[in-house]
Amino acid sequence: MNQWLAMPAACFVLMLSSAVVAGELDAGKALAKKNLCFDCHGLSGNSDLYNNEAPWVPKLAGQPVGYLVKEMKAYRSGSRQDELMSPIMQPRTDAEIDLLAAYFAAQKRY
Ligand code: HEC
Repeated sequence: MNQWLAMPAACFVLMLSSAVVAGELDAGKALAKKNLCFDCHGLSGNSDLYNNEAPWVPKLAGQPVGYLVKEMKAYRSGSRQDELMSPIMQPRTDAEIDLLAAYFAAQKRY
């Protein structure tokens, strides 16, 4: 491919991949809303709903995707147990966990 084609082609690929990422984040957000994650962890994943008066609810914002996926699967399998989180994670599929993790990992932590 010559250099005059390479540039627009690269831009197109970039646009395409950012559209895919945005779609993934929207899907993760919708899932989080449906499954009440925001009620405890907040829309931004900073778990500051009660003016930080519930420090036992961990912040999800900005945590590594891999960590969030690993912990959600641990609740699902029972290797990590919590009376609130375990029942929420038990019915989740791998695909749902990936989307939820992608959404919260992408939020700004404060
Ligand atoms: C009823 C409140 C509540 C809801 C709803 C809730 N969580 Fe949690 N979540 C908690 C609490 C409390 C903990 C800490 C539990 C523990 O000590 O293991 C936690 C822990 C987590 C962790 C582990 C974080 C870490 O730093 O180790 C992840 C990931 C998580 N929640 C994701 C979610 C997702 C995704 C949803 C929605 C599908 C959700 N939570 C819904 C209360 C909630």
